[in-house]
Amino acid sequence: MTKKIEAIIREEKLNDVKDALRKIGIVGMNVFEVRGHGRQGGIVLTGRSGTYRVDLLPRVQINIVLSDHNVEKTVETICQVAQTGNIGDGLIFIYPVEEVIRIRTGERGREALMYADDIDARSTAAVSAKPEVA
Ligand SMILES: Nc1ncnc2c1ncn2[C@@H]1O[C@H](COP(=O)(O)OP(=O)(O)OP(=O)(O)O)[C@@H](O)[C@H]1O
Ligand SMILES: [Mg+2]
Repeated sequence: MTKKIEAIIREEKLNDVKDALRKIGIVGMNVFEVRGHGRQGGIVLTGRSGTYRVDLLPRVQINIVLSDHNVEKTVETICQVAQTGNIGDGLIFIYPVEEVIRIRTGERGREALMYADDIDARSTAAVSAKPEVA
């Protein structure tokens, strides 16, 4: 099964999250600048002319389509790096994905999601690198 992770994080966490994902072998992704609010409905700021409400705050959305078995590790990595503990750290949504097609080759499904040195290529390499037991 294929899933899509949609992670909404603080803008200043983007580089650290991207690096951490790269480190665990998550390669393909899409990044968007978004504006939104969660359950607090924005923030109230105090300026010279009094207080005003900013109800849409800038955030970054990272979309990653990946195999089911890599979702938990990816979610853990994002949470670890993106968490400050303060209100507004963001949310992660997970969706099922019907199909993936790599346009150049026509590959579908998991094959269309394979990248050199990605999280799955590494675990296969680790298994095949194990010494033979007589
Ligand atoms: N229900 C939602 N659907 C889609 N996007 C959302 C939803 N809730 C929040 N967002 C997006 O996530 C961003 C961060 O939300 P936020 O971290 O404030 O969530 P929260 O549930 O209010 O948690 P917290 O109490 O930690 O603030 C928002 O700015 C908005 O872009
Ligand atoms: Mg909030």
